[in-house]
Amino acid sequence: MISLATIEPENILSRKVPVCLFVFEDQGVAKGSVLGNLRKRILELANEEGFKASPGNCATVSMAEGQNLRRFVLVGLGKRTEYIAETARRASGCLYQYVRSRWPEIAVLAHEPHPVCEGLLLSSYSFQEYKKAEGEKLLKASLIVSTRGEKNDAEKAAAKAGLFSEAVCFVRDLVNRGPSDKTPQSLGELARGLKGPGVAVDIISRHRAQEMGMGSFLGVARGSSVDPVFVHLIYKPKGSARKKIGLVGKGITFDSGGLSLKPPTSMETMKLDMAGAATVLSVFKVLPKLAPKVEVHGFCAFTYNMPGPDALKPGDVIRAMNGKTIEVLNTDAEGRLILADALAYASRQKLDAIIDLATLTGAIITALGSRVTGAMANDKALLSKLLTASQKTGEMICELPLVKDYKENIKSPIADLINTGKPRGEAGSIIGGLFLQEFVDGVPWVHLDIAGTAWTDAPMAYCPSGGTGALARTLLEYLSAL
Ligand code: BES
Ligand code: MN
Ligand code: ZN
Repeated sequence: MISLATIEPENILSRKVPVCLFVFEDQGVAKGSVLGNLRKRILELANEEGFKASPGNCATVSMAEGQNLRRFVLVGLGKRTEYIAETARRASGCLYQYVRSRWPEIAVLAHEPHPVCEGLLLSSYSFQEYKKAEGEKLLKASLIVSTRGEKNDAEKAAAKAGLFSEAVCFVRDLVNRGPSDKTPQSLGELARGLKGPGVAVDIISRHRAQEMGMGSFLGVARGSSVDPVFVHLIYKPKGSARKKIGLVGKGITFDSGGLSLKPPTSMETMKLDMAGAATVLSVFKVLPKLAPKVEVHGFCAFTYNMPGPDALKPGDVIRAMNGKTIEVLNTDAEGRLILADALAYASRQKLDAIIDLATLTGAIITALGSRVTGAMANDKALLSKLLTASQKTGEMICELPLVKDYKENIKSPIADLINTGKPRGEAGSIIGGLFLQEFVDGVPWVHLDIAGTAWTDAPMAYCPSGGTGALARTLLEYLSAL
């Protein structure tokens, strides 16, 4: 936990709070003019101690000043030529880890307030829901600002970083929660709670989904003892909207595989399978405060994928909302089944663009690992806007082609489509994307496969292991740039 504020230089130099500075390997302190002559002395002392300003490396330098002992924490940024905003975000994560067990308060000379605040906020996350109340330690961090302009910038950056981080941590909390504690019903209630000025929420029950013809979504839900829930959220800006954007999220609250049951180890993390929908909800949580000038529609399809007595059986044929029939050969390819109806429903809402987020395929983990999201698109301009946003947020996205030749793989002899590619195991992520494309009707669309990025077992500077909250920031950045 962390609280952010701003502070003027005169006030910090007279107090005992350690001052944190970012240092380039080859260019010294990133923003050190307020330190005056001290700057040189600090670096000399650090050098004597053998400090190297490699990215994220931290060290403390102490200096006697009259009666007082002043402390400076140096944070490495590496080489100036290799620097990007992500360097600062990660270094700030390292800074948080370094100071949190040492001091309750720090003052920071932030050369780029937004990534610095984000790094501090995101790295201070920990999942507390199931822990006996311990009272997380609070770190107070103040950004040092010398002019009114700087104060303004820092406050704006801190506020934006605060909203972005709130969204990310909201996703992390939901993803980390145990699967039985996040039923479609309870997530529907949570969505209902997001209703407020500017945000409307429509909760679509199983009964209504049936009337609407969502046979594919409801097919997946058949194996579960609890009902599915489909959520439609709408954010309307004050004044006229520049665009109407749809966000669609896969909300499998646990993926057992259904009758095509997963082996135990593959099931261990399958509470993560609602990360896409959680990300959509997180956007709506902060949208009113971020206030972009676009209308945003969110669609979350929530259901368990379980092997119950009435579960879908391999060989079953189901009908999606757009009339297309699907032969279900593998009940573990359930994400595309629920998204089929979600995308068909979204396609009817007269949107300018649709972006779906789904933990869709294990194949994307093999291809891109846990730091790069796979993207597939029917529209280059839309994808390019998302890529621009992702470069700002430091979240990596890589495009995969929607190869037309591979459409052969989803042809069925008895229905319009099959839900698993043949032969199995080949181009799994692309085939998933091609399947989804069949349900997007005449709207620019990007599919984001976050099966690798929604979860990590390899913690990094500002993200512990578990749910990551991947792409929440990129979506918010994309929406605010429209
Ligand atoms: N939810 C999984 C994908 C997944 C796997 C997410 C690992 C995160 C980590 C999805 O529903 C699934 O089971 N996909 C199958 C598709 C196959 C049966 C065509 C897969 O990837 O094996
Ligand atoms: Mn599955
Ligand atoms: Zn799944």
